[in-house]
Amino acid sequence: MGEKVGMASKLLERFLLVLVVLVATTQAAADGHKSAGGARRRATAEPPVPITILTSAVEKGAVCLDGSPPAYHLDRGSGSGRNSWIVNLEGGGWCDSVLSCGWRKGGYLGSSLHMDKPMFFGGIMSASAVDNPDFYNWNRVMVRYCDGGSFAGEGLDRATGVCFRGQRIWDAAVRHLLSIGMASADRALLTGCSAGGLAAMLHCDQFSAFFAGKNTTVKCLADAGLFLDAVDVSGGRSLRSYFQGVVATHGVAQNLPSSCTGHLDATSCFFPQNIIGNIKTPIFLLNAAYDTWQLRESLAPNGADHNGAWRACKLNRTACNESQLTFLRSFRDQMVATVKDFSGSRSNGLFINSCFIHGQSEMWATWNAPGSPAIGNKGIGKSVGDWYFGRAQVKAIDCPYPCDNTCHHDI
Ligand SMILES: *[C@@H]1O[C@H](CO)[C@@H](O)[C@H](O)[C@H]1NC(C)=O
Ligand SMILES: *[C@@H]1O[C@H](CO)[C@@H](O)[C@H](O)[C@H]1NC(C)=O
Ligand SMILES: *[C@@H]1O[C@H](CO)[C@@H](O)[C@H](O)[C@H]1NC(C)=O
Repeated sequence: MGEKVGMASKLLERFLLVLVVLVATTQAAADGHKSAGGARRRATAEPPVPITILTSAVEKGAVCLDGSPPAYHLDRGSGSGRNSWIVNLEGGGWCDSVLSCGWRKGGYLGSSLHMDKPMFFGGIMSASAVDNPDFYNWNRVMVRYCDGGSFAGEGLDRATGVCFRGQRIWDAAVRHLLSIGMASADRALLTGCSAGGLAAMLHCDQFSAFFAGKNTTVKCLADAGLFLDAVDVSGGRSLRSYFQGVVATHGVAQNLPSSCTGHLDATSCFFPQNIIGNIKTPIFLLNAAYDTWQLRESLAPNGADHNGAWRACKLNRTACNESQLTFLRSFRDQMVATVKDFSGSRSNGLFINSCFIHGQSEMWATWNAPGSPAIGNKGIGKSVGDWYFGRAQVKAIDCPYPCDNTCHHDI
């Protein structure tokens, strides 16, 4: 009896956790869309970029959660950038069960039937030479995220018809872009933010393999994708349990790097800390050491914050007490330790700043605007550009919070 009640309450807790994560993800994504058209965008707006539905991908089984075709937005390059390509994998959380993926397919993160038509490009995607001097005239592509598994799943739930085809979407999108000009690129950059940042890491070497034997400079940038396998405020591992659900539901294991799955379980190999050391393609990691998504969903999610002691702090950094800041600092230290070996490679780049934010490469205000975040006077756009074009080595790691007064904290 006691066991049954325990199980039922565990199930209920699990359901609530899923619900909270779903709401939080939807909210974060919605906020992202709002900010794309709101205050964080430059006053003189660029026109939004139209959507292209990739209908031809359907015959390869490359479909969104609901079976609809995948989609992308492309702003063509010009001048010195006409043969250079940015491929950006859109972010927006994950779904971790057939049930939550079933809910997700009713929205734009699970179906192209529900996607906003045009999309505003900002930051590294901007077409303005002032706002984005190194990449403004490249071909810039946003591949829409509608699989819920960081573009890495492979499977189908026959009972509900929910499709897990992230890896096929990735493959079909890249092959299509190659066919419309990217095959002759002299430069290519795979990027992504959040779940898209993780996807950029997972697919980085696969991306460069598409250019094998060609004279193309291929690199990757992962923004806010450094999700750590961290201990939460109640001593558990909330994100690990969540990722376990994502990996199992989507059938991700077969698409994870064998250099990792050969000696670790699949869930571990979904965590960047266990794969970044084996990525052969030059890659840049951009992340806030006080990543607000990780604070809310990995370190102090409601399921781990039993008495609500973290509720104020995770919504408002000035409400954090000393012991909470100490906990967050140890998370920052863990992130810095995670990139230590990675940082030793000459071809890699790093920008880890001590800000409370999640995602900094796709917004005007944090990418290259006056007063945007900097380490040692160098901003994010300049740091990524210097690294990509080999103008300088960039291994920027900030002092701990609150020493940096250039942050754009989002809480
Ligand atoms: C490869 O590209 C670089 C510049 O992108 C150029 O200088 C070089 O000549 C090219 N090499 C070949 C073999 O085409
Ligand atoms: C600070 O927050 C922690 C929760 O992390 C709580 O247990 C502790 O009582 C708080 N300390 C003070 C002085 O409020
Ligand atoms: C954040 O917390 C501080 C300190 O507890 C408080 O003074 C402030 O009003 C809070 N800000 C918001 C927006 O809730």
